[in-house]
Amino acid sequence: MINCKSFVYVILICFVVFGCKPGVHEAGISSPDGTLRFELTLDETGAPFYSVSKSGDTLLASSALGFELKGTNDLKDGFVIRSVEESTFDETWETIWGQFSSYRNHYNQLKITLREDQGEGRILIVRARMFDDGAGFRYEFPDQPGLDSVLIADELTEFRFTKDHKVWYTKADFDTYELPYHVTPLSEMSSANTPFTLKTTDGMYLSAHEADLTDYAGMSVKAKEAGPFTYEADLAPWPDGVKVKNKVPFKTPWRTLQVSDTPGDLITSGLILNLNTPNALEDVSWITPMKYVGIWWSLHQGVETWTMGPTHGATTENMKKHIDFAAKHNMKGVLAEGWNKGWENWGAENVFDFTTPYEDYDLQEVVAYAAEKDIAIISHHETGGNVTSYEQNLQRAFEDLEKNSIHAVKTGYAGPIQPKGHVHHNQFMVRHYRKVLELAAKYKVMLNAHEPIKPTGIERTFPHMMTREGAQGMEWNGWSHDITPDHTLILPFTRILAGPMDYTPGIFDLKYESYDDKRRKWHPSRGDITTMRVKTTLAKQLALMIILYSPMQMASDMISIYEGHPAFKFIEDLEVDYDHTVILDAEIGDYLAMARRTGQNWYIGAATDGSAREMDLKMDFLPVPGRFKATIYEDAPETDLENNPGAYQVREIEVDASSVIKAQLKESGGIAITLVPVGSKDME
Ligand code: NOJ
Ligand code: CA
Repeated sequence: MINCKSFVYVILICFVVFGCKPGVHEAGISSPDGTLRFELTLDETGAPFYSVSKSGDTLLASSALGFELKGTNDLKDGFVIRSVEESTFDETWETIWGQFSSYRNHYNQLKITLREDQGEGRILIVRARMFDDGAGFRYEFPDQPGLDSVLIADELTEFRFTKDHKVWYTKADFDTYELPYHVTPLSEMSSANTPFTLKTTDGMYLSAHEADLTDYAGMSVKAKEAGPFTYEADLAPWPDGVKVKNKVPFKTPWRTLQVSDTPGDLITSGLILNLNTPNALEDVSWITPMKYVGIWWSLHQGVETWTMGPTHGATTENMKKHIDFAAKHNMKGVLAEGWNKGWENWGAENVFDFTTPYEDYDLQEVVAYAAEKDIAIISHHETGGNVTSYEQNLQRAFEDLEKNSIHAVKTGYAGPIQPKGHVHHNQFMVRHYRKVLELAAKYKVMLNAHEPIKPTGIERTFPHMMTREGAQGMEWNGWSHDITPDHTLILPFTRILAGPMDYTPGIFDLKYESYDDKRRKWHPSRGDITTMRVKTTLAKQLALMIILYSPMQMASDMISIYEGHPAFKFIEDLEVDYDHTVILDAEIGDYLAMARRTGQNWYIGAATDGSAREMDLKMDFLPVPGRFKATIYEDAPETDLENNPGAYQVREIEVDASSVIKAQLKESGGIAITLVPVGSKDME
C-alpha cells in the first residue's frame, strides 16, 4: 500500500511581524476560508482571554488562559502583548497508513508573545492555528532568564460554550476512559474526558480535544460555577497534586476544537494529525497495517485460560492452528495472550515475566512456524498497571522481541498504577507511554496499547503507534451490559476522532450460550452473566470492521467459529489501510454509513443503533465510467436482534456511479459491501 500513494507537497510561508506598542491588547486570525476566527484579548488587569467564532457566531466566548504555578507567582495576568506574528502554511503530506493516502495541512497561524508588564517580566507565548475545519492553540514557555523550570498547579484554560448544545461524552476520569457514553444537554455535563462532541443548537458539530500530548498531563474538563456552559481544563495530577513538572523551554499540547457542518466531516478532518509533527522514522518498511486473529475472546469467556492448566490458551499447538487459519484466510497477524509467565499473579502482585514463556509454549517453534507462513506474531505485555516492574524489564523485553523477530506487541495496564499514587493519565504515565513508544521504534516494534493514554495524533510522528484501546471495547460484552447498540455509533464521532481504536469487532457467535457454564465460573461475581452478550446483528459486526477505524484490526471471535463460516469471506477480502474515505450518511449515536477505497476496490460499512432503518446508499462516489461487482452482506428478513442475531444474507449485484443500494438494517443491524471493478483479477 505504502508505495502506491500519491505525494503532493506545497509549502507557502509568509511572516508578518508586528512589534507592539503599549496599549495594544488584542490580536486575531482567521482560517484560510475566512469563516473561523480566533481572537485573543487582554482585559484591564492584563489577563488573556480567547474566543472562537464561525462566520460571526460565537462558538467559544471570551475564555480565560493562563496558569497557576507552585512556588512562584502565577502566570495569568499583568501581561502586555509584546509581539504578534502571522504566517500561513499549506502542505499536503503522505500518510504511512490511514483513512486517507494524504492530508492537506493548511492553516493561518498567529503567534502572540505575552510579557508580564511588571515584576519578573516573564514571557508566555500563545500560538493559534486556524484551519477551515477547526482551531488549535497551545502555550509555549520559551527559554528566558529566571525561569528554568515550572510546576503547574493548575491550567486555567476555559472553554465557554454559548448555548445548551447536545453533547456526547464520558465523565472525566484520571484513571480510565473505559466508561459508558452519556448524551445530555451541555447544562447536565459536569465533567468530560476528551474528545467530547457537541451538536450545537444551530445544527453545527464541534469536538474538543488535544493534540500532540508529549510531556504533559492528560486533560479533561470540569464545569465551572462561573457561568453556564463554562468548562475549565482539569489535568491529571502527580501524587503530590502538582499537574505538570517541566523544564523550560517546553510547549503544552494543542487545545483543539473541530468545527463542521456535518457529523461526517468530523471523521474526515485531519486537524489532530496536522497539529503533530511529521514522521520521525527513516525506515518504515517494518510497519504493516494488518488484520489479525488471536487467543483472546476465549479467555474472556472462560473457555481457555491465560494461566497454565488444562485449558491454557497460548500453547504451541493452538498458536500453530491460529497461524494456519491466518495464512489461509488473508489475516496477517496472530495475537497470543497468556504466553508468558506471571498470570497467576494477576490482581495481586501483578508481576509479569515479559520474556519467559509457559512450558507448553515453545516460542522459537511458534516464531519459526509463523515465519514460514509469512504471519506476524503479536506479542503481549500485560503489566497489570505495574509500571515499576515493566520499566525494570523494558529493555530486556524489547531485546527479546528483536531476538525473536517479533515486530508487534500489545501492551496492557489493567490495574492501579504502581508506583502507588499515580494515575493512568498523568504526566508520569504520559512519559512512560512515550518511553515505550520510543523504545519500540528502536526495536522496530508496532504498538497496540490497552489502558493507554488517549491518542492525540502522535501516530503521524511515530507511525508504529498503530492502535490503542482507550474506550469500552468488545471485551465489555463478555462481562457487562454497558455496550448498548448506540455505543459503536458514538465512538467514530468521539474517541476515534482522536485516532485508531483497537475495539476488536467481528464477533459472529453473538450470544455465546454454549459457554454459559464456563462464563459463570469465570465471572462468579458479575451477576447473571448469561444475559450479557453482543447487542448487534452479525452484519453490523462486519460493518464495524470498517467504521471503527484501526490499521491493526482484529477479527475477535474464536477461529473455531470462523472456520467454514461464509460471512468470514468479507473479513478475508477487507483491507485496513485506505487511500480514501467517504462518509455516505451519518448522525451521531444513530447511524453511520461510509465507503473506503484501497487501490481500485471499495469497502462499505453501514450500521444503525437500536432502531431498524432503511438507508439509500448512493454509489455516486464511484469513478465514471466504471462498473463494479458488489458483494453485499446484510441483515436477512429473519434476522432478529433478540432471537436470531446471527442470521444474514449475501447477494451479488453489479453497480456503477448511478446506482443506489437499498439497505434494510434491522435493530442494531448493519450492512457490509465489497466493490471490485468488473473484470479485475480480484473478482475471482
Ligand atoms: C484488558 C485488555 O483490554 C484486554 O484486551 C486484555 O485481554 C486484558 N486486559 C488482559 O490483558
Ligand atoms: Ca481494557
